[in-house]
Amino acid sequence: MSIHIVADPKLVADTVLLPGDPLRARHIAQTYLTDVIQYNEIRGMLGFTGYWHGNRVSVQGTGMGMPSFSIYAHELIDTYHAKRLVRVGTCGTMSETLHLKDVLIAQAADSDSAMNPSRFGSYQFAPTASFDLLAKAVEHAKAAKLGFAVGNVFTSDQFYDLKGEEKKQIAQSLGTMAIDMETCELYTLARMKQVEALTLLTVSDSLLTGEQVPPAQRQSTFDAMVDLALQTLFG
Ligand code: HPA
Repeated sequence: MSIHIVADPKLVADTVLLPGDPLRARHIAQTYLTDVIQYNEIRGMLGFTGYWHGNRVSVQGTGMGMPSFSIYAHELIDTYHAKRLVRVGTCGTMSETLHLKDVLIAQAADSDSAMNPSRFGSYQFAPTASFDLLAKAVEHAKAAKLGFAVGNVFTSDQFYDLKGEEKKQIAQSLGTMAIDMETCELYTLARMKQVEALTLLTVSDSLLTGEQVPPAQRQSTFDAMVDLALQTLFG
């Protein structure tokens, strides 16, 4: 067991879905998996293991932001020997070609976080998705006729950011498509620990228009993305 996930390592699968919201972890487990066990409830950060069409998979809530995400991903990899980690989350679009409810398959992550400068000093690390998972996600997204894009995400340290407008303009000028708060840390840890990782994000809001997906539609768009994640891993 580890500090924030208290479970017998045998209870956690080597493939893990990572929603930020622990209640979404429970929803995924209840909706998609069979023979489900709950292996963690420390701090309410629920974790479950079950089977999707015979394939063993865990679902672990991570909380919001890189520091919280990092704790759970770190412990899953180091203590529970996770080998494939797929974040299933939401993002805000800043691109005219990425629409509300589309899925962004995140190729790489820019960031304003201090975590990587603090780790690597002047070495400019490039946080990128694992190619095999990325390619499979594209194949399955096409087959399912999902509205999707492949592109970069800006992983922000602050949701309410005094300099948000300035950073958005830089990101847009670089062709960065959306904003989240976790992907940079997933891709960094995956490289450091030599495991596979991918982020899939449904667009929940627009930084261009201020529009948000209405709550009643959020669940179905999120579910389409979870389907894509499971097809990507096991299809
Ligand atoms: N900012 C940061 N993270 C997000 C957003 C946002 O607007 N929407 C969904 N995740």
